[in-house]
Amino acid sequence: MLALQLDAPHQPAVARDIPTPEPAAGEILVKLHAAALNHRDVWIQKGQYAGIKLPCTLGADGAGEIAGLGAGVEGWQVGAPVILYPGVEWGDAPQAQGRNFRVLGMPDPGTFAEYTTAAARYVRPRPAHLSAEQAAALPLAGLTAYRAAFERARVQPGERVLVTGVGGGVAQLAAQFCAAAGAEVWVTSGDDDKLTRALALPLGLRGGINYRQDHWVRTLTQGIGRGFDVIIDSAAGDAFGTLLDAAAPGGRLVFYGATLGNIPNLPAAKVFWKQLSILGTSMGSEQDFDAMLAFVNEHQLVPVVDKTFPLAEGEAALRYLEAGQQLGKVVLAF
Ligand SMILES: NC(=O)c1ccc[n+]([C@@H]2O[C@H](COP(=O)([O-])OP(=O)(O)OC[C@H]3O[C@@H](n4cnc5c(N)ncnc54)[C@H](OP(=O)(O)O)[C@@H]3O)[C@@H](O)[C@H]2O)c1
Repeated sequence: MLALQLDAPHQPAVARDIPTPEPAAGEILVKLHAAALNHRDVWIQKGQYAGIKLPCTLGADGAGEIAGLGAGVEGWQVGAPVILYPGVEWGDAPQAQGRNFRVLGMPDPGTFAEYTTAAARYVRPRPAHLSAEQAAALPLAGLTAYRAAFERARVQPGERVLVTGVGGGVAQLAAQFCAAAGAEVWVTSGDDDKLTRALALPLGLRGGINYRQDHWVRTLTQGIGRGFDVIIDSAAGDAFGTLLDAAAPGGRLVFYGATLGNIPNLPAAKVFWKQLSILGTSMGSEQDFDAMLAFVNEHQLVPVVDKTFPLAEGEAALRYLEAGQQLGKVVLAF
């Protein structure tokens, strides 16, 4: 089968033939039809990810159909359309993953391959209203967005939510999920064209602003009349302090990434005087994944797929994601 593998950091990912895996007892063989990229794949390739072990088939997100059942697997039919939980061994505690938790696609073999095997407990029916490419856009980004919004920040209907960097795969879904839950959602982007495109999509967004614009927080909050109850961010870095000004008193700021690096200066007085909560979040448990899929099915949500590449052109897809021109998910289809 064809797989996209990374042999060493700072090397191009290579599409090559490798043996098709066999499902062990308790496992399902999945013929993948689509797999989505995440920024994680780029961080691994750049050597900027913890615990890198290579060579490895990359990819955390996959959607396809069942191609074979290992011994003891019941309740599934060959040919059934499925989607995969993007991690393994979250552990027993809903509040945080255990030490053995891993994301698919390094060190475990990932989804940028024509076939993969997964323990049956990590396989779910694919939402019937989604194509394989749309479904592949969901697992890691949807799980992260869902847990950030609803398990950690506990977004409520009618609350005002700000999602930063709407071009990002997780951010786009976080904005879409919060709007579907009845929140009033604004977004930022560093690109006016992305903002225009995001606001034109049927995502239910109230408005947006370019975070490169001077005094954007003041312009946005004065226009709305107050600050935000919830802010969802993945940039962190020196941009994070600005977000404290965008928060309403009692607001919750939840972040799941640090694209701009660590937060250098956090004005403590703003945090305590405004009674702010700063929350960290990362992916989610299988229960979060089930809740996310139920939410997507209930609201018939469709993730935004920016661009699709053939599996053999996976390296070009990684460079496209790194360049940051996308609005939504970049997907490999095969
Ligand atoms: N902890 C977890 O479980 C988890 C899960 C998923 C992702 N992440 C992390 O979250 C980050 C985003 O991941 P992704 O896969 O969604 O990435 P992505 O699809 O590549 O999107 C990255 C986005 O970051 C936004 N961005 C860049 N600079 C920004 C700034 N100064 N302020 C606000 N937004 C900014 C950009 O949005 P615009 O183009 O609109 O400006 C860009 O599109 C990465 O650092 C990733 O490693 C963590």
